[in-house]
Amino acid sequence: MKEFLFAPMEGVTLAGYRAIHHRMFPGAVEYYTPFIAPDSNGSFRPKYLRELTADCGTLTVVPQLLVNRADAFCATAEKLCELGFREINLNAGCPSGTVFSKHKGAGMLLDLASLDAVLDGIYSHAGRIGYRVSIKTRMGVRSTEEFPAILEVYRKYPVSRLIVHARCREDYYRGEPDRTGFAAAVRGCPFPVVYNGDVRSAEDLAWLGSAAPQVDSVMIGRAAVANPALFRYLQTGEQLRLEELTAFHDELTETWLASGLSPVFTVERMKTLWTFMQELFPEAKREVKAVLKAKTMPDYRIAVGALFRSGSFRP
Ligand SMILES: Cc1cc2nc3c(=O)[nH]c(=O)nc-3n(C[C@H](O)[C@H](O)[C@H](O)COP(=O)(O)O)c2cc1C
Repeated sequence: MKEFLFAPMEGVTLAGYRAIHHRMFPGAVEYYTPFIAPDSNGSFRPKYLRELTADCGTLTVVPQLLVNRADAFCATAEKLCELGFREINLNAGCPSGTVFSKHKGAGMLLDLASLDAVLDGIYSHAGRIGYRVSIKTRMGVRSTEEFPAILEVYRKYPVSRLIVHARCREDYYRGEPDRTGFAAAVRGCPFPVVYNGDVRSAEDLAWLGSAAPQVDSVMIGRAAVANPALFRYLQTGEQLRLEELTAFHDELTETWLASGLSPVFTVERMKTLWTFMQELFPEAKREVKAVLKAKTMPDYRIAVGALFRSGSFRP
């Protein structure tokens, strides 16, 4: 049995989402936060702090940092340690143009000597202070064939977990992940490796189990947002029920409204979720369109009610 980690997704897997998901659909052992981008002194905006200090209860949250300098990482890490976090994740995978052009995210993979120098600073500090550092990486910038050279750099450090999104930066989120290249490259890795990229079925897990048997953790993002019961389904075969989805949806909506988020912003946040969850209603094109077009909370509630009653729920 593989263990599951919930992938970071900016604008989606926020604190409120994580807490409600974990309570209603336990199954992920860890939730990674969407990236936090501190400035060079390690300061970060209050919105990030609010997200991090929200009551986590029994769920394990790993904060993720998007930085390309060891000093900024270390200054932020000290603040996160004061908040009680003991593992911090480095984002070496974000493909977005604005991030990449600053040599952050997947941009860190452009120059392996600089990557090495940054990791040297980070891991020396982590060793002195006593926290773990995991890395979430792409397999390359232009091609996944760059991965063995990137891995050589990672292998020099006590990486607590290496999470590999099995695509290169130029693939963004499209095309097939390079599972074969992943399985070949991570054989014999000295640290725990986590597979990430398009896992949505028992067949995907079976493939991983035979091609990369030493990889016992899988990170899932889009498919788990599309079907919040996915981890349970993969573990036990028990499918999502419509009444569970309705309860999950209603609690998220009411939690965001109660947190002071305006109705208009709450509608926008819920619509972002529906861009993934719409696949649960493959034959309700008209109802889905009305949900995604709604601008006000009353219109949104009417549209979502019609979608739930459409009779086309197919998890
Ligand atoms: C809307 C969206 C936001 C994302 N935000 C982040 C992020 O903040 N940090 C990160 O490391 N990856 C981020 N990702 C990438 C996912 O964590 C994951 O690596 C990717 O979607 C592949 O996994 P999947 O096929 O299971 O979704 C994001 C992906 C999407 C689609």
